[in-house]
Amino acid sequence: CRVRHYKFNVVMKNSTKLCSTKPIVTVNGRFPGPTLYAREDDTVLVKVVNHVKYNVSIHWHGIRQLRTGWADGPAYITQCPIQPGQTYIYNFTITGQRGTLLWHAHILWLRSTVHGALVVLPKRGVPYPFPQPHKEQVIVLAEWWKSDTEAIINQALKSGLAPNVSDAHTINGQPGPVSNCSSLGGYTLPVVNGKTYLLRLINAALNEELFFKIAGHKLTVVEVDATYVKPFKTDTVVIAPGQTTNVLVTADQNSGKYLVAASPFMDAPVAVDNVTATATLHYSGTLSSTRTTVTKPPPQNATAVANNFTDSLRLGINPCPSCKAANGSRVVAAINNVTFVMPTTALLQAHFFSISGVFTTDFPGNPPNTFNYTGTAPANLATTNGTKVYRLAYNSTVQLVLQDTGIIAPENHPVHLHGFNFFAVGKGLGNYNPKTDQKKFNLVDPVERNTIGVPSGGWVAIRFRADNPGVWFMHCHLEVHTTWGLKMAFLVDNGKGPNESLLPPPSDLPKC
Ligand code: C2O
Repeated sequence: CRVRHYKFNVVMKNSTKLCSTKPIVTVNGRFPGPTLYAREDDTVLVKVVNHVKYNVSIHWHGIRQLRTGWADGPAYITQCPIQPGQTYIYNFTITGQRGTLLWHAHILWLRSTVHGALVVLPKRGVPYPFPQPHKEQVIVLAEWWKSDTEAIINQALKSGLAPNVSDAHTINGQPGPVSNCSSLGGYTLPVVNGKTYLLRLINAALNEELFFKIAGHKLTVVEVDATYVKPFKTDTVVIAPGQTTNVLVTADQNSGKYLVAASPFMDAPVAVDNVTATATLHYSGTLSSTRTTVTKPPPQNATAVANNFTDSLRLGINPCPSCKAANGSRVVAAINNVTFVMPTTALLQAHFFSISGVFTTDFPGNPPNTFNYTGTAPANLATTNGTKVYRLAYNSTVQLVLQDTGIIAPENHPVHLHGFNFFAVGKGLGNYNPKTDQKKFNLVDPVERNTIGVPSGGWVAIRFRADNPGVWFMHCHLEVHTTWGLKMAFLVDNGKGPNESLLPPPSDLPKC
């Protein structure tokens, strides 16, 4: 294994899209930011230098950070932010993971423009468990606002209303040729007839799940959230913010140009935003005047298409290692009427140095009132405010049932857990019923991931082993919901063994 060094200069940069120019926060002046490459078991050092007026922190979304929570990145959870003029070196080893992940700013709404791909290749000499592609391409999907995103959320918080939806989506930084006023023409993926390509799809959008489609071509899904799945073919991929999906696509249409589309999916009764980002798959050698073949993306509320996709995901290689370890498992439900209050010092520091008064460990293991989903928001809306964490013994097996209440918004919530991968053993609509639903769990080949969509008006059950000591954030990856309080943290105690404790913090850890 190697040590990989990267430098991230956080700088302002003017960017023009949709006929208007605004300064954005970027890494190294790029949108999306640079792709970070490493191999399984490599050590990665990223020196982040903050040249902007905002506090900054960077999260390596999906990297487990075994015993190195100091490098995880969520501001005020595992570190104090990197202040203007300051530097912090994120130092972590990628243990037993490979695949496509993403990195992004983890403070305020900066991740709208501060994000990029994190590609972990298998160890040298280890092939993919599917035919080797001719080439690989990272495809980053995101959202674009004409106005400043920090101003948008601040305005929304002041008014108490939902923030403005984005003005466009982007594919590798560009809204594409079909959008109004796209001088750049959009991203083009060049292909050679007969060859197969691995596309590493990343949803870096702030607030929207997306459909992804390529006209005239089937996509073979081989991986999600850097875990292999049993390959299956689909016309449409659905991908939530924070999720990644690897697909193989074979250029089997001889020639021409084909429309690539990313459009919003929202399982909500309201029409929110219908701006489709477009790009072009182009058979090399085809004249540029050749007509682009277009297929319409699914409508925004195509829940059946989305369910069909997520229900097809099955763990790829190993039998599920920690699915059956339900003995003594805990059932907790988030968010249990607690509105998480961000602390002013990082929880991980408070934990490691035993600083009292920063958080409490009385996060309730179950909702305070029996929850009954009836299709409308329940009456037990009273919440308590607090910085409450849920404590887990080292190596305990955890079962977590995430039940949607429809309170914040009647839509899917892509919930992301830091520090772990989990197995999605069950999913359903309506109320979770432990007696009947648990019997139907898939304990054989449930998909393993780090971000899971909780269906609107339904639930998912996930299982994981608490084998990573530290403090780990869990939150909805729709940024506006995180802002509103759909977040909490787990505290995993140290184990007794020699390699079972949180390592001490690096000397350059930022101070609050
Ligand atoms: Cu991708 Cu806590 O975030």
